[in-house]
Amino acid sequence: MSIIEKAAGQLEKEGKISAKQPSPDVSISPKPASAQGNDTLRSEVSQSHTPDPVAAPAPTSLTSKRITLNLTKMRQYGIVTPDEGRTQIAEQFRVIKRPLLTNAFNKGADMIKNGNLIMVTSALAGEGKSFCTVNLAMSIAMEMDRTVLLVDADVARPSMPKILGCGTERGLLDILLDENLDLADVLIKTDIEKLTLLTAGRRHSHSTELLASQSMGALLKELAQRYADRIVIFDSPPLLLTSEARVLASQMGQIVLVVEAETTSQQTVKETLRQIESCDVVNLIYNKARSFSGGEYYGSYYHESA
Ligand SMILES: Nc1ncnc2c1ncn2[C@@H]1O[C@H](COP(=O)(O)OP(=O)(O)OP(=O)(O)O)[C@@H](O)[C@H]1O
Ligand SMILES: [Mg+2]
Repeated sequence: MSIIEKAAGQLEKEGKISAKQPSPDVSISPKPASAQGNDTLRSEVSQSHTPDPVAAPAPTSLTSKRITLNLTKMRQYGIVTPDEGRTQIAEQFRVIKRPLLTNAFNKGADMIKNGNLIMVTSALAGEGKSFCTVNLAMSIAMEMDRTVLLVDADVARPSMPKILGCGTERGLLDILLDENLDLADVLIKTDIEKLTLLTAGRRHSHSTELLASQSMGALLKELAQRYADRIVIFDSPPLLLTSEARVLASQMGQIVLVVEAETTSQQTVKETLRQIESCDVVNLIYNKARSFSGGEYYGSYYHESA
């Protein structure tokens, strides 16, 4: 049985992939890395918070390349913030980030090429990519010794403006278009010390080609190697609906595939996994699950199965 079939079968066995009825919870089921044997790692989490679906752009105070995040607005969107303490959603993302961090900084034989480059994607629109990306970035930024660069690589429909209140500044596409522009020119620092942002930048009709360009390859190499102790997490477009996402996926060390509970069909998940077969490490987040069988704490809902 292939790894893909195994991962999808695991979801099916758990009754995770069925039809219809969206709802507000999260769980994760990382796919095994083929490079690391066939263990399937799975953990579940749930969330009771319902974010404001029509949240207006969070106002931020912007001084050149440094913003103060509006944590109140972010919380309304369901984002984990440092001042909240031990909430259920914070616990969920603590569980979700752990295998990603382990993979990212594995050394020796288990080392994953560009493991610190993590792309969050989904098959279709609205499954929760941006929600999970920003929450993961925030959760990792709260680690003692980890810094995070959050990249809005959904260049056609960026979400940073909506969730973080920035996005009109120069960003990813601008660096790719203007060879005189340096990465340092466009990075935005935040008042969360370990969190830096890179916006999608100016829209461009050839964004797929730009993301597939040598400049993008060079930029990713720089991001992966120059900041080897940093996690770079990419919000991205839906895989089955855009070519940009596929181009990006081919260059990542790890992929997080967000699957919307009771909405995305098993067939769709299988097809999506096929599209990203080139990436050795694919993790699944089962998002917006209505019910959650685990307990309140990490230990009670984290388990491994073969
Ligand atoms: N676990 C969750 N609990 C509650 N609400 C959620 C959850 N995940 C996502 N949402 C909500 O679902 C909606 C869609 O989420 P989000 O914008 O993250 O999806 P997306 O996959 O990035 O969409 P797009 O493809 O348009 O970029 C948002 O209103 C978000 O707040
Ligand atoms: Mg999005």
